[in-house]
Amino acid sequence: MRFLQIASALCLLGSVLGASAQTARKPAGATTASTAAALQQIGRTATAAEVKAWDIDVRADFKGLPTGAGSVAQGEKLWDAQCASCHGTFGESNEVFTPIVGGTTAKDIETGRVQNLLPGRFPHRTTLMKASQLSTLWDYIHRAMPWTTPKSLKADEVYAVLAYILHLGDIVPADFTLSDRNMAEVQARLPNRNGKVFYAAMWDVRGKGDVVNPLCMTDCPIEGEVASALPDFARNTHGNIAEQVRPFGAPRGTDTAAPPRSARAGTAGAAAATAATAATATAAVAAAGRTDGAALVKANGCTACHGMGNRIVGPAFQEIAKRHAGKFDSVEYLAGKIRSGGQGAWGAVPMPPQAQVREADARAMAQWLVGGAP
Ligand code: HEC
Ligand code: HEC
Repeated sequence: MRFLQIASALCLLGSVLGASAQTARKPAGATTASTAAALQQIGRTATAAEVKAWDIDVRADFKGLPTGAGSVAQGEKLWDAQCASCHGTFGESNEVFTPIVGGTTAKDIETGRVQNLLPGRFPHRTTLMKASQLSTLWDYIHRAMPWTTPKSLKADEVYAVLAYILHLGDIVPADFTLSDRNMAEVQARLPNRNGKVFYAAMWDVRGKGDVVNPLCMTDCPIEGEVASALPDFARNTHGNIAEQVRPFGAPRGTDTAAPPRSARAGTAGAAAATAATAATATAAVAAAGRTDGAALVKANGCTACHGMGNRIVGPAFQEIAKRHAGKFDSVEYLAGKIRSGGQGAWGAVPMPPQAQVREADARAMAQWLVGGAP
């Protein structure tokens, strides 16, 4: 293979092609001969090692996958050390990075279609919601991550960290070891494996690609015309992403608000511990008389998307209160919104329905907001 040679010859070839186009009607014998001679002078054949270093792609049928293996537990250590700073401890991501894990269900794993991809269902598309090929994830991590030191992971490490991501998405169990031998089995459990489409451009630009990239080889303009056609309606549809903090996805790990294990009844076991946690939450809300909106919004998980004073995925509770304070006919409206969700009152990002919230609690939270709290 003569990649490097060909690559470095491309410039010259470009100008030669240009020249032969201009001289197309003249006999071109002399030009062709000198070109061939010139081509012999440049580049050299790439070595086998050089070709191997570039030839790392993994195909959808897993051709190109190196042998190797890594466990969820190994992946967790790697993730915490090398990935969590940007992608969040549980792949939920913080700041500007798109979430990797979240939004997929056991049902999706069964059907291979992710329901939350339907419009208005979920505030964001996570990697596990989108990916239809496990090979792509493997390849992408292998060639591009960690962002600051790409290609630094060994094959076994890529298997391990991918196993951990899959485990966070409940696609493989905690004691799983991912390897080149079982990638195909796991592919058969990927939530969006049947979700590929071959149409639907990202923006409607009348059937054309949204970037025009004319070839230029000689006297190219230094400032070419900007030819990208992102339509106006597509700009800023989600606010300033850089300002958005997205604590996101199901809560995981130990409930740190519960009393320490040592303070609970001896060897009560997991069931009792869970009951204790639930009891603590109920007690906290009960102590507040079930009318304390601040306790209710915490107990119902609303604070994952709404800060008291700051916008997260949704508006700050203070902003909502300000808009509705004193308008007691708003109680009905807000209580309804809380349980059925909505879109458009504050921006393009939808609030998913919160059907698990009891009607009385929704009213209490609405009253709290209308009362001007927090
Ligand atoms: C310094 C920050 C940083 C670190 C550390 C980092 N990443 Fe990333 N990651 C990014 C950025 C930025 C992107 C988006 C890149 C792009 O779109 O071109 C990304 C994208 C990804 C994606 C694709 C997301 C998608 O849906 O398109 C995966 C998967 C991923 N990273 C995995 C990892 C893994 C595994 C590690 C640890 C081995 C890691 N990253 C470490 C910044 C980071
Ligand atoms: C997944 C993120 C998310 C969760 C969880 C969430 N919200 Fe929202 N919420 C939003 C978004 C986004 C909006 C803005 C919707 C819009 O523009 O119409 C919103 C809007 C609201 C509004 C204003 C509605 C209006 O029309 O003015 C209220 C009230 C509200 N949320 C209360 C709650 C309560 C109470 C909970 C918990 C039971 C909750 N939210 C959980 C994202 C969320």
